[in-house]
Amino acid sequence: MRVVTFAKIPVSEAPEAIPNFLKLELIDRSAKIAKEDAFRLVPVAEGREDRFIQMGYELTEGPAYTLERRSPQERIMEEMSDLPEDIRSALPMKWEYVGSIVVLKMDPKCDPYKERIGRVYAKILEVDTVCVDSHGVSGEFRRPSMEVIYGTGTESVRLENGIRYFFDVSKVMFASGNTDERYRMREQDCTGEIVVDMFAGIGYFTLPLAKYSGARRIFACEKNPDSYCFLVKNIEINDVGDIVIPILADNRALLGAHFADRILMGYVQRTSEFLPKALKMIKKGGIIHYHDTFYVHEYKEKIEEIFTRACGREGFRVEMVREVKSFAPSVSHYVADVRIL
Ligand SMILES: C[S@@+](CC[C@H](N)C(=O)[O-])C[C@H]1O[C@@H](n2cnc3c(N)ncnc32)[C@H](O)[C@@H]1O
Repeated sequence: MRVVTFAKIPVSEAPEAIPNFLKLELIDRSAKIAKEDAFRLVPVAEGREDRFIQMGYELTEGPAYTLERRSPQERIMEEMSDLPEDIRSALPMKWEYVGSIVVLKMDPKCDPYKERIGRVYAKILEVDTVCVDSHGVSGEFRRPSMEVIYGTGTESVRLENGIRYFFDVSKVMFASGNTDERYRMREQDCTGEIVVDMFAGIGYFTLPLAKYSGARRIFACEKNPDSYCFLVKNIEINDVGDIVIPILADNRALLGAHFADRILMGYVQRTSEFLPKALKMIKKGGIIHYHDTFYVHEYKEKIEEIFTRACGREGFRVEMVREVKSFAPSVSHYVADVRIL
């Protein structure tokens, strides 16, 4: 059997890291990725060993197993070939990884088969826990409603854009559709700025800003004690404790006037209620990243209307608006960068 060099990638990093390695052509595609304890053994493309060493991964050697060419979806359908046809056609064919956890959205008619589904998906997707996202997120704290159908551990680390997000999928939300916006935050130039994140969650936007934007200080406010605990932990594991000050509070109780160069309002549907507080904290010339949901045919007018009401027609300038993701039929989540004059 052919012997190849493998890079040992911790299981929690694998779902995010491996697609990146493929993009960078660091993986030998003729050999199979293997599993060893808490690691995925990724076959290294010839001559690319140094890249893995530079990234801090350990290398090892072993036999190259032949590549499984069928997709996980095909293998799931094959394993479930004995189920009634209407159940097979309703099986989830998309999922989301959070480290060693996979999250599915499942048609209720698959419910009687959920134990079997959990077992098969865990085996084929090589994860420790399978959860079903039953009703999305709800309430002020945006709590998810997850049912664990295989395994027990619901805490894991999601690696995204060089940031480690540690959280419990059953306790706090993680909007995978906001990946581009988290990346955009990483790309902002906030050199020397004082930033307030009014809805920090587990650090969705705070962490990329803290790690890459050059911000001097970020006050990250979060009201949900569960999310706050993960925020504190994430500040530590991403080594940004000298920049971020976590605050467990309702953001309307924050003190201080006109001290912030930039304010993040990463909340939707009720965001305008919090605008007076943001306007109290922002400096003249500062920028507010204002998130909200609008009908797609009227988002520009609505943003103008909300800010005109809050600070007068001459009090602001909308510098950019982008769609973050679709929210409901004809409704999207938008973010507007608004300069306060
Ligand atoms: C929608 S989540 C953040 C989503 C995030 N921006 C993303 O990209 O996924 C909003 C967060 O704001 C918190 N929150 C809601 N009202 C708050 C308030 N008045 N003060 C502080 N935090 C609040 C919620 O607990 C939740 O963690």
